[in-house]
Amino acid sequence: MKRTAGKTAYIWYCRVKMLKDLVGIKESSKEDIELILSTASSFKDVLKRDIKKVPTLRGKTTVNLFFEPSTRTKTSFELAEKRLSTDVLNFSVPTSSVVKGESLYDTVKTIEAYGVDFIVIRHSSSGAPHFIARNVNASVINAGDGINEHPTQALLDAFTIIEKKGSLQGLTIAIVGDVFHSRVAKSNVYLLSRFDARIRLIGPPTLVPEMKGYNVEVLSDMDEGLKDADVVMMLRIQMERQGRGFFPTTQEYFRYWGLDMKRLKRAKKDALVMHPGPMNRGIEISSEVADSSQSAILDQVTNGIAVRMAVMYLLSREGENG
Ligand code: CP
Repeated sequence: MKRTAGKTAYIWYCRVKMLKDLVGIKESSKEDIELILSTASSFKDVLKRDIKKVPTLRGKTTVNLFFEPSTRTKTSFELAEKRLSTDVLNFSVPTSSVVKGESLYDTVKTIEAYGVDFIVIRHSSSGAPHFIARNVNASVINAGDGINEHPTQALLDAFTIIEKKGSLQGLTIAIVGDVFHSRVAKSNVYLLSRFDARIRLIGPPTLVPEMKGYNVEVLSDMDEGLKDADVVMMLRIQMERQGRGFFPTTQEYFRYWGLDMKRLKRAKKDALVMHPGPMNRGIEISSEVADSSQSAILDQVTNGIAVRMAVMYLLSREGENG
């Protein structure tokens, strides 16, 4: 069923896509996103209790399959899973038969044979979670695929902004840095544009792609781009993906696109500073800004658990409802 079949049918199509898997924000509807965010709010209340565990996913099995390094996403998913009472299997790629050349397909089919209910996957290839979702019955959650998407990061970012600012609508959100390699930036653009936020993409022309079909303003001048912004979302310079010289030196990068206190003053006085982590302090953000009262970086980390609990809860509910 295609978008041309009408709005109702399109929403239905998106709901069906959301039912089994969360592979991207691009594939999720505004209604799905709103439902995840409101459910996350309830889970945030649960996480404030003395006993933070609920029996929601008791008897289910989840495998975390991280083919790329992670601190926040991996630990946050694991905590979310444990607090939902699902059994958790942390698959260790470096000590697995992947190093003997076993394919992604065979690895996943082997794990599926154990009867798992959720597969949380991070992979360096864009589209890997989509490929797996088509080949297994388990719910697949994308924990970051190549330079494509990082949907739960965008959801926790939106949750944090709404928590601090009340709404996404009408906010000016500056996304600064290595947009080209950033799956976080792309998922954020897809999400924020559904909620009528004004999006500015700022960075060296070599690292800011055109995002055709999305209402984004592209700027290379950071002082201009930060003017009156409500939210400044800094991106990590992805050293591991810099195959060619996208910028001359890290010192020069900081001079033009790094966020320090002086530059932050261009944004609104109460502007929120965000960063998905891990940060390169002194390259894209100064320590003074990262540790300032305007920084919501650790709130983002905290909110990751509630958002991931909400995603897993909703996917399991849809599965039970058939
Ligand atoms: N934000 C994020 O994806 O961080 P990790 O790579 O540490 O998971």
